[in-house]
Amino acid sequence: MGIRIRRSVYSLPEGDETLVWYARAIDELLRNRPISDPTSWIWMACVHGQHPAFPTPPNSAGFWDQCQHQSWYFLPWHRGYVAAFEAVVATTIRDLGGPEEWALPYWNYSEPLAANPDARLMPPAFRDELLPDGSPNFLWSRRNAVPDGDFALDDTVVHLDALTFQNFTNAAIGAPSGFGGPPTGFNPGGGDNGALESIPHNRVHTRIGGFMGDPATAALDPIFWLHHCNIDRLWEAWRSQGPAFANPDDPAWLTAVSFPMHDGEGTAFSFTAADMLDTTAVLHGYTYDDVPVAQEGLVMAGGGGPPAGPAPELVGTRDAPLPLGEGKTRARVELHPEQARRSFTEALAAPATRVYLNLENVVGTGTPGDFAVYVDLPSDDQPPLKAGVLTTFGLERASDPERPHGGNGLTQVLDITPIAARLRLTEATAPELEVSFVHEEIPSEAVGTPPGLEQFAHAEQREPRVEVGRISVYFE
Ligand code: C2O
Repeated sequence: MGIRIRRSVYSLPEGDETLVWYARAIDELLRNRPISDPTSWIWMACVHGQHPAFPTPPNSAGFWDQCQHQSWYFLPWHRGYVAAFEAVVATTIRDLGGPEEWALPYWNYSEPLAANPDARLMPPAFRDELLPDGSPNFLWSRRNAVPDGDFALDDTVVHLDALTFQNFTNAAIGAPSGFGGPPTGFNPGGGDNGALESIPHNRVHTRIGGFMGDPATAALDPIFWLHHCNIDRLWEAWRSQGPAFANPDDPAWLTAVSFPMHDGEGTAFSFTAADMLDTTAVLHGYTYDDVPVAQEGLVMAGGGGPPAGPAPELVGTRDAPLPLGEGKTRARVELHPEQARRSFTEALAAPATRVYLNLENVVGTGTPGDFAVYVDLPSDDQPPLKAGVLTTFGLERASDPERPHGGNGLTQVLDITPIAARLRLTEATAPELEVSFVHEEIPSEAVGTPPGLEQFAHAEQREPRVEVGRISVYFE
């Protein structure tokens, strides 16, 4: 068998059967295989995250609840996971009498609208609960109830600023952790998201909502796999920009941690990041029909450069936990002028000063959604300037002290260099900064559940609650 070619779901030709076979395989994997079978639909979803309401078969120990988030393993772990899933589906399709070389399609929601006006809409085959003949549509799932597949994937959700980050990882406290995420050990959640993980990855999860809104249920939704196929393609797109965009060569990333999984035949294997570098050598091997990403209208405001110079310096903090409510929540962050002045003087000699806003130890329960973040000088008469978005996908698992590595919550580092200059923040004349958080409304709660997955939807949903433990400002 040749390697698989993963295609854009919106470019599949009229009459193409890729999604028809995908739906048939889901029917088979969901209805005809016990959850203790490593190739069943539910087992594969539980490899990502384990729903507390769900019984754990003894043979799942060491295989479930493995997803790597807020980590430099985010991309390689999900690459192995998606390839293993694709292998199971392809084997199933072959056994059902379908094509030999099925490959998972991807959903390129960031495609310029001039090229595909529907790019940001859920692909039509995934939208309706029932097929025209009244039978269940296995591509449908529990999601926010929106009309016409429109989950409001606006520019703030699908932009590709992440691709401009030249460093894959960055360990410096206070600075963004790079394209791929911070150095960690095995990390099922907690800490700072890499740029790609934050946007579009986390934002797309949250906007779709329902199963997709929580890592514990996300992989139950058939669209999860097209979303992750696209994230995986964006890793290739990032790398293809030139030698400056290189994967880590640190053995700690390459080989120190290995991840267990089952392949297309249900046989256990394990992989490291080093095994995930060449897509043509991952399991059967695969490639993408189209890797380059049009950057039209998606220009980075700042923040992508390689790590440079001394560690970022803390110039201001607010330490009391700040609960975020509906609407707008405000907080004042005191700046330390002496420190800031020293930083600024030193920075005059350097080519660039960067300013980072850190939202640390963000903890909570449920799926509260994302928050737009604004900054302002209280003494200023200008309207507040947008700093970025606080994403909360994975909040609950990152906040749970019972979980390994859990309890410290999420961190979001926003590069506010361009607006800091407009606020004259680096002139060290400002005693404080006002940070405000505006909750993004989710228009319509998730309703409905696909047959066979009722126990996941009926599990008690915890009250959405989120608080920011500490807000700090760093100069670099
Ligand atoms: Cu491990 Cu999109 O999530």
